[in-house]
Amino acid sequence: MITKEITEKIKNLAITAGKQMLGADRREIGLNAKEGHANFVTKYDKAIEELLQRGLKEILPEAAFFGEESANGSFPDSAYVFVVDPIDGTTNFIKDLKWSCVAIGLTENGERILGIVYNPYADELFWAVRGEGAYLNQARIRVSAEPLERGVAVFGTAPYYEDIPDHSLDKAREYLEKCIDVRRTGSAELDLCLVACGRAELYFEPRIQPWDMAAGSVIVEEAGGTVKQWDGSPLDVTKACSCMAYGSGITLERL
Ligand code: IPD
Ligand code: CA
Ligand code: CA
Repeated sequence: MITKEITEKIKNLAITAGKQMLGADRREIGLNAKEGHANFVTKYDKAIEELLQRGLKEILPEAAFFGEESANGSFPDSAYVFVVDPIDGTTNFIKDLKWSCVAIGLTENGERILGIVYNPYADELFWAVRGEGAYLNQARIRVSAEPLERGVAVFGTAPYYEDIPDHSLDKAREYLEKCIDVRRTGSAELDLCLVACGRAELYFEPRIQPWDMAAGSVIVEEAGGTVKQWDGSPLDVTKACSCMAYGSGITLERL
């Protein structure tokens, strides 16, 4: 049972982590390459993940932790699991593009029950608890009801994988004609939040990891939107999969 007090503590922890991102010493971000194409990590990704792991352990000791920088192996077999991306939008962070976030999702027996996404650059905290609606800071948010042709589509390029047959750039070309315009922002969790608060009507990406979607997907659903894999099957937060999210003016048949 996730109480209001627990949610507040997690929100505050996300804000503290975000401040660490904002306060980064830009002269020395400690850049290192990871596995995959153009996949980098900085010392801030690691430090923020450690801060979150410690903080979340204090808040909910029984929960397991599945974070991008420390995960090795499969999704933990535990009733509660925190699914964490310390910096979603690492390339943006490296380039100082000022569009990255801290993302904390929580699952209970495999079901996504809470999502918290904090963008420190805009001081925007998106959050939702299953069954209780979605919020941006204090205000309730809802997805857009606009149809695709009056919508904006945001998409991710799954940049770390070179083996994706159905690439989002082909889809983006297609949607460019069906929507007002398309955008590539550089943070999947923030893309989901853009759909949740109605700034974008559609998000799609051919492959993302659990920590890229665990938090934002709950926020979209609680804001009245839909999140699925590209083939229409349910999102699987325990492993990498494709993802699309859309507002209430769009139906799966029209995508
Ligand atoms: C990435 C971002 C990006 C998305 C990639 C993700 P990272 O996460 O969310 O927008 O296109 O698929 O891996 O590496 O910045 O945490
Ligand atoms: Ca990420
Ligand atoms: Ca990350």
